[in-house]
Amino acid sequence: MEPTDKDRCNIFQDPVRSELDILEDRLRDTLHSDIPLIDDICRHINRIPGKRLRPNILFLASRSTGGEKSAALTAGMAVELIHTATLIHDDIIDNHLVRRGQETVFAKWGNNIATIMGDFLYSRAFTSLSETGLHELMTILARATNIMSVGEMLQFQQAGQIDIDEARYMDMIYGKTASLFAASSECGAVIGTDDNGNETRESYSGFGKNIGLAFQITDDLFDYIAVDELIGKPVASDFTDGRVTLPFITAFRNAPDLKKKRVSELFHVGVKEEGDWGEIVSFVQSYGGVEYSLNKARELGEKAKDSLSSISPSRERDALCYAADYITERVLPFSA
Ligand code: IPE
Ligand code: IPE
Ligand code: MG
Ligand code: MG
Repeated sequence: MEPTDKDRCNIFQDPVRSELDILEDRLRDTLHSDIPLIDDICRHINRIPGKRLRPNILFLASRSTGGEKSAALTAGMAVELIHTATLIHDDIIDNHLVRRGQETVFAKWGNNIATIMGDFLYSRAFTSLSETGLHELMTILARATNIMSVGEMLQFQQAGQIDIDEARYMDMIYGKTASLFAASSECGAVIGTDDNGNETRESYSGFGKNIGLAFQITDDLFDYIAVDELIGKPVASDFTDGRVTLPFITAFRNAPDLKKKRVSELFHVGVKEEGDWGEIVSFVQSYGGVEYSLNKARELGEKAKDSLSSISPSRERDALCYAADYITERVLPFSA
């Protein structure tokens, strides 16, 4: 029998199951407040947990380099809080009403409260790192958070432009997504390695960066191969919001001028009529956008695994490599 999605996730979750379980408890404890409004929002956020991919990577990186559990737990929690804050802010920016299959904080409480809630979570993350004296990890994560805002700004700068090239897209997704994966993986290695471990740090940071790039590419692929209900958030929204991603960028590069003209019209006028979005999807599929993006994600997944080739073999290192494969292949069940 084919392994289910859950079976596959278990392979990279099991080696750090105890950390992941403690993380859930701590998130529940941390994400509550005496202020009823904050508490309501926290309960809403906790109702449907995310995949916890970033702390999962951090825990594996830490264990595979002999890291101490309590520092990994504090850092894993900080990473997940930062991630949650960016999602809350991202949904305001993207004007999205649904995430993880439920209403976004923005949809339920509005722009102002969602903005403050994001700030609340960011500051919680950094407070916990500073209170536990994890200054080096704080530096890595502060830098990543800054790069993430630059990535989101680049995305704004690119909005409304149809002829974005692949290099600019890659810079943008490095900022908005891969930088936090790189930082999570690097933090794990820093916890586990002594001061002479610069090479190890770079290997782990390279691993995280490449899986992060692959992750955003596969996330962008979902727009062209999945439907909202299956992924718990809206598809088609990037294009509708004037943003092109790798599948479209590739098809646009390959297509003849006449076809380019037609999709440019749809891009500028907007996907309005029934069938418009279907036309874009078939354009992207016909001109190789899906296939190319999937291959690109696979290539990055391989690159990620290569980054760990000099690390001593361990169950945790194998689990990281498996996670890289999972991230690149997660779209396959949808692309059949
Ligand atoms: C969503 O990240 C944001 C992107 C970088 C595409 P995840 O898909 O990891 O979000 P959750 O936490 O599992 O919901
Ligand atoms: C993820 O970008 C942004 C962050 C890293 C905050 P998207 O806007 O593409 O992610 P989704 O599709 O909303 O999860
Ligand atoms: Mg979004
Ligand atoms: Mg966004």
